[in-house]
Amino acid sequence: MRKLRSQSWFGGLGKDAFIHRSWMKNNGLPDDAFDGRPVIGICNTFSELTPCHIHFRGLVEHVKAGVLEAGGLPLEFPVFSCGESNLRPTAMLFRNLASMDVEEAIRGNPIDGVVLMAGCDKTTPSLMMGAASCDLPAIVVSGGPMLNGRYQGRAIGSGTDVWKFSEQVRAGEMTAEEFAAAENAMSRSPGHCMTMGTASTMASMAEALGMTLPGNAAYPAVDAHRNRLARLSGRRMVQMVMDDLRPSAILQKNAFINAVRVAGAIGGSTNAVIHLIALAGRLGVPFTLDDWDRYGRDVPTILDLMPSGRFLMEDFCYAGGLPAVMKEIAHLLEKDAKTVSGITMGEQIATAHNYNPEVIRPVSNPLTQDGGLAVLRGNLAPNGAILKPSAATPALMVHRGRAVVFETIEDYKARIDDPALEIDEHSIMVLKNCGPKGYPGMAEVGNMALPKKLLEKGVRDLVRISDARMSGTAFGTVVLHVAPEAAIGGPLALVKDGDWIELNVPARSLQLMVSDEEIAARRQHWTPPSHEMKGGYQSLYVERVLQADQGADLDFLVGCRGHAVPRESH
Ligand code: FES
Repeated sequence: MRKLRSQSWFGGLGKDAFIHRSWMKNNGLPDDAFDGRPVIGICNTFSELTPCHIHFRGLVEHVKAGVLEAGGLPLEFPVFSCGESNLRPTAMLFRNLASMDVEEAIRGNPIDGVVLMAGCDKTTPSLMMGAASCDLPAIVVSGGPMLNGRYQGRAIGSGTDVWKFSEQVRAGEMTAEEFAAAENAMSRSPGHCMTMGTASTMASMAEALGMTLPGNAAYPAVDAHRNRLARLSGRRMVQMVMDDLRPSAILQKNAFINAVRVAGAIGGSTNAVIHLIALAGRLGVPFTLDDWDRYGRDVPTILDLMPSGRFLMEDFCYAGGLPAVMKEIAHLLEKDAKTVSGITMGEQIATAHNYNPEVIRPVSNPLTQDGGLAVLRGNLAPNGAILKPSAATPALMVHRGRAVVFETIEDYKARIDDPALEIDEHSIMVLKNCGPKGYPGMAEVGNMALPKKLLEKGVRDLVRISDARMSGTAFGTVVLHVAPEAAIGGPLALVKDGDWIELNVPARSLQLMVSDEEIAARRQHWTPPSHEMKGGYQSLYVERVLQADQGADLDFLVGCRGHAVPRESH
């Protein structure tokens, strides 16, 4: 076998190798642990502040067992854990920070290949981005979704039902006691959100990209299949090191095309757009916002999962999981794409079976014909904006309405339930200064809740436009990721109350019906919002973050910096 990278630390008889081995032996490793066998890093995002990963201490033991069985040396290390439910001002602010941690931890250590333990929304992209910039063999093991929520005899979904319940409370249709009872019924086991939110979407994206073993996306966190898959992934990683099978060989353009098509078929989260563009950027793969529209446009959504549909991830697993979805849309896929399994994607899904055509519907009877993400352009979003048709109201897909403008999310919160707010069912809600630089970190606030007075009238959706993101579990006719964002003077910054706006999703257009002269005049008087930054990471982020259409990566992180062995430390 060729000399492995880890031998640059552990091989030989000199002082340096003595130091590297001797200190490692303090945890009981015998001499033969350093005999040239593959050293497999296990990148663990366990944290008690990331509840979606609370079972990772146990799950990594299965990965380690697999590595040992295949003759490797497993070494677990912690990295920044991007938990969605607790991190403020938004976990997205830290995705890039976490990716830097992952990249530098892999490169700086005696590691030949790495198992990436992902789960909650931002962890999957941050781990893959960091690993891609290093380009050592890497495989993703997801933590898996929670069991389905159960409340009053019916299934309830993470996030999706929170938004619904909270609107029902505001509309007087649900009591505070019932709301509290639902809180105890939603999160029933370890695991990440069990709707097709961003976590389940990104686990599916990792699988569609070929970065996981088949079936990884859907097994519940507490299913023994999950532990088995972790063990098999550990074994497989050892072989990947032997074969030098690296992310750059897997994450090629055809893999991204597959991911876009799968995202449409599963009704995936809008957040996948930003994460996949950022991931492609780390490897220099040409993959743009327009590719999302081009390759996703004719893909029907066939998975009937919340928030677009009815079921949850547990049902998805029992129906056959992602391989069954991919087999249903096999005619749309790039079957030659490589996978971590060592076989092509076409070979990997050949034996998949759909056990429940109610959950995974046939292409001939889809949930939505237009499943891809619509990329909108126009004078309000010169560099693009997106909308998820499967989560939107069909009647609002072509709509003209007057803007009700909120300058910040605080402005929105302060005025949304003011009885004097001039808003009706035809209005278009516009939210500014929630983009990558403006928030900062591009918060998931784009699916602004409707004003109480409209909810009480039975209105359940309005067109909403912002430079923010929205939770993958959310729904509505919501235009997101408007670029350039308001905080850097994008046209969104110049919208005023009462302006007419025209949304035309079939034509992929978003227009502010104000003359160019008037827009130019408003720009003369525009001043950028001030940031009260006190240095630290947030200042660096605001200074260097790219816009949404470029993946909101930090400009200096774009690209692959490889895994050359760094110079000796002593
Ligand atoms: Fe972690 Fe939803 S909060 S996946």
